[in-house]
Amino acid sequence: MPPREILEDFYFIERGFLNGNHYIYSSKAPVLIDTGFITHWCRTKDLIAGVGVEISEVSLIISTHCHCDHVGGNKLIQELSGCGVALHELGKKYMDTRDDWETWWRYFDQEPVFFDATRVLGDGEIIDIGPHSWEVIYTPGHARDAVALYNRAERLLISSDALWESDMPSMVPRIEGEDSLDKALESLDRLEGLDVKTVFPGHGPPFCDIASAIEGSRKRIKGYIDSPERVGRDIVKKAIVFYLLMKNTVSEDSFFPRLMDTTWYRDTCDRLLGGEYEGVYKGIMDDFIERGIVLRNDGALSTVVRP
Ligand SMILES: [Fe+2]
Repeated sequence: MPPREILEDFYFIERGFLNGNHYIYSSKAPVLIDTGFITHWCRTKDLIAGVGVEISEVSLIISTHCHCDHVGGNKLIQELSGCGVALHELGKKYMDTRDDWETWWRYFDQEPVFFDATRVLGDGEIIDIGPHSWEVIYTPGHARDAVALYNRAERLLISSDALWESDMPSMVPRIEGEDSLDKALESLDRLEGLDVKTVFPGHGPPFCDIASAIEGSRKRIKGYIDSPERVGRDIVKKAIVFYLLMKNTVSEDSFFPRLMDTTWYRDTCDRLLGGEYEGVYKGIMDDFIERGIVLRNDGALSTVVRP
């Protein structure tokens, strides 16, 4: 998707499932909001250059939360530009203490890419990006350190992973806390109180009907609360797609043993899916293949989901 100028010199760039969407303020003292997944750094760099920003000139990164699909480029950009990184105080704590658990890195078998968190964004604080003022809204649930950004003047909301149009990110109470589903509902209540013209989510295209997105998310979260098995199946589905995108292709024979070597797969099956490992894998993969989400070619598996 080409960059879209949503405010003067302020661009929205839509990515896919593996990389969170980006926002770039391209004028004097450029600012980036969310920097994608580490292995797709070259593409991210090209996209940033595409709106005329030199990485070495970046003055600040704002991270909506410390998950790998949103902070992947932070360390590299910081090394190349010396920029600061602004984020919620919990995110700063994760970076300061080199916490690879709360950031999901260890749980989802990722290499940690710690960076220097230099500025804390408090709930209700106004952060100016060039001439544009954004209000910080704390939105825990999917991530304990999640923040959304609201531009009151133009009624724009950067919701990150607190609100998508017609789906939800993985909810992982194991890490984000057993109250994370309740927190996610409270965060939706907060977003519902805003006057919003357009929502720019962490993944997927912008949308205007915030009310129906909130209603859909509430329904999903209540479904999760009623059925922990649904939480487990959703984690497995989304993490399988994430893993396939990360690796491009995986040999069919090796995939299930690989999953069994990860922390998240066994843990999710043990805690939420009755300790069933192979049956869960087979059921989900058969469904993915039938629906054309996963392709099987000469013993190799890949996905059609956009990275
Ligand atoms: Fe995300």
